[in-house]
This record gives sequence, structure tokens and C-alpha cells, in this order.
Amino acid sequence: MAAISKRLLLSDLVSSDKIDQVPSNYIRPISQRPNLQQVFHDSIPLIDLHHLYGPNRAHVVDQIGRACREYGFFQVKNHRVPEPTIANMMQIAKEFFKLPEEERLKSYSDDPTKTTRLSTSFNIRTEKVANWRDFLRLHCYPLENYIHEWPTNPASFRDHVAEYCRRVRGLALQLIEAISESLGLDKDYISRQLGKHGQHMALNYYPPCPQPDLTYGLPGHTDLNLITILLQDDVPGLQVLRNGDHWVAVDPVPNTFIINIGDQIQVMSNDKYKSVLHRAVVNCDKERISIPTFYCPSPDAVIGPAPELVTDDERAVYRQFTYGEYYEKFWNRGLATENCLDMFMATYLLHIICLINYSE
Ligand code: OGA
Ligand code: NI
Repeated sequence: MAAISKRLLLSDLVSSDKIDQVPSNYIRPISQRPNLQQVFHDSIPLIDLHHLYGPNRAHVVDQIGRACREYGFFQVKNHRVPEPTIANMMQIAKEFFKLPEEERLKSYSDDPTKTTRLSTSFNIRTEKVANWRDFLRLHCYPLENYIHEWPTNPASFRDHVAEYCRRVRGLALQLIEAISESLGLDKDYISRQLGKHGQHMALNYYPPCPQPDLTYGLPGHTDLNLITILLQDDVPGLQVLRNGDHWVAVDPVPNTFIINIGDQIQVMSNDKYKSVLHRAVVNCDKERISIPTFYCPSPDAVIGPAPELVTDDERAVYRQFTYGEYYEKFWNRGLATENCLDMFMATYLLHIICLINYSE
């Protein structure tokens, strides 16, 4: 079996050490492997946002609501993020991950509280099995608080990424309004709950993998934030859990974004909309880049089920919490253990007592 890597980043292990086997610390137990043959291709809804801005808005809002309820995921076209902005963002990500190791390592940190950092896997401080991924994570709203921390190599990194962030934030705000409306809430309701708002992003780099059936780029997880807007290159890899029992591949469609509901919308909607499990698998031949934008509340924002969605018949499923509290729990628990949402259920103590009684 190959030795455990001494390199900090996976991309340097793959490109320099010419490995032909997955190192042992990346190998999942048999029961947790991706089973790449058993994947479906029935995909997720593709919603045209063109009419969101015209007289047929109600129809698009309806489509968004249905996609959130039934899939937790959808794709969008005519989203008003210019094609050159998207192309520049993808190009700069490619160039960043091609920089020499010592240049990239200037941004390296394994501390998840850092607001700008390059790292590998998911959270190497808490996880037992590593993931086949390197990533650069950036906080990006308000831009002026963070941009001075970002890499300056490639030279146009800050300009291109900042432009992308501004445009994608515009899209996020439109989607949040539509989601609010689709729940029967005031269109500003969700936005008002987000405090000063927050926006993070990741540049994910998945190198080619000699044995993709033994490991993951990212194992099944839900996103902890409000909504995620994902840009992916032309290499497939994203899979979404459908009806709780089978994985569907979401193959790339040029110039579309993939939108998914995160845990905070699940809480505010009082479980009407579900934050759905998804994962990234890797392949033998091609590197893959994906760029999720995580739109989120600011840490001080108080999140809980919308009062209008709580009735005598439909009690509040979750207690109130600050996003800061949720964020900390999420990063400390590791990806593959208990669902983070469970820890914030109104009946969490009861849940624990039942588990204890059951195991006795
Ligand atoms: C994520 C994520 C999917 C992908 O970064 O949270 O789900 O396709 N990424 O990279
Ligand atoms: Ni995700």
C-alpha cells in the first residue's frame, strides 16, 4: 500500500509523485464507497430566469418553489451574470491551481476560522479519511473587508474574482426574493433575517484520481449556508441525492448555475424546503474545477422558522440560534457524522433521550 503523503496539498502529491494508487488515508471503508455504476442521469429542473423580471414572474416563482420542495436543487439560465465574467472567473481559478507549489502555499492554512485560506480535503483537523480535493476558500462580502487578504498572483485575481462576486451576489439576492415569495412570505422577509448578510466562496480543485471508486472529492453533505450558487467546468462530478434513495449526476450545462438550498433555508421554511445531500466524485483522466458561492447570514443574525409558517398543526421544528453558533458547530463536527440540523431541533433533548433509551 502506498505511504501516507507528506505534502500539504493533494495537487502536488498527484503532479509530482506520479502516484498510481490512492494513498491509504484517502480510502473509504467498503460500505461508504461511491458505487459509481449505480448513478442515474435524470437530472434536476432547469429554470429560465428571463421571466423573473417581467409579467410572468409568478410562474417562475412557482417553478422555483416546486424545485426547492421536490429537489432542493435546480439549474438556472438567463441569470444576468455576463459570460465574460464567468469565463474570467474559471480561467483565474485554473491559473491559480497551476501556480508553483511555493507560491500557492503562501495562502495555506488548516484553520477553518481563517477568512482566506488554501487547504485540502474538508477539515483535516477533524476528519479520519481525507478527500480528493484542494480548495481556496474566500470570504467575499463585504468585499472591502476581505479583498486585501486575497492572493495577488495571478495578477488579475482580485479584479476578476471581485467582479464575479458582485455579479453573483446580485443573482443571490434575486433568488432569495423569489424563494421568500414562493413560501408565501413577504419578498424581503428572508433578506431581512440575514443581519448584514455574508458571502463566501470556494475554488475547488479535484485532481485526476487513479482509483475514483475508493474515495470522494467531497462525500455526501448538505451546505450549512442559505443558498449555494455553483459554477462548474465541463467535467462531470456533482451528484445529488434524489428522493432519499438514489444519486443523480448533474452534468455540466455551459453558462448555467446550479442552485441549492442550504440548511438555513430549511430552518426558515420550517422543513418545507429541504437542504439535500450532494457529493462530488472524481475520475481517472481529468482534473475538475467547481466554484460554489455560499450566500449566508452574518454571524450575529438570529435564524429560526418563519413565524408565518408555524401553526398549531405545524409546530416549529427548530429552535432559534445565531448563524455564528451554527457555523461553529458545523465546522467542529466533521462532514460525515451527525446531520448538523438535528442539533438545532426544538426537540433535540428529547431526541437524545430516545437514542439513549434505545441503546440501553
Ligand atoms: C461544495 C460542493 C460540489 C462540487 O463545495 O459544498 O458541494 O461539484 N461542491 O464541487
Ligand atoms: Ni456542497
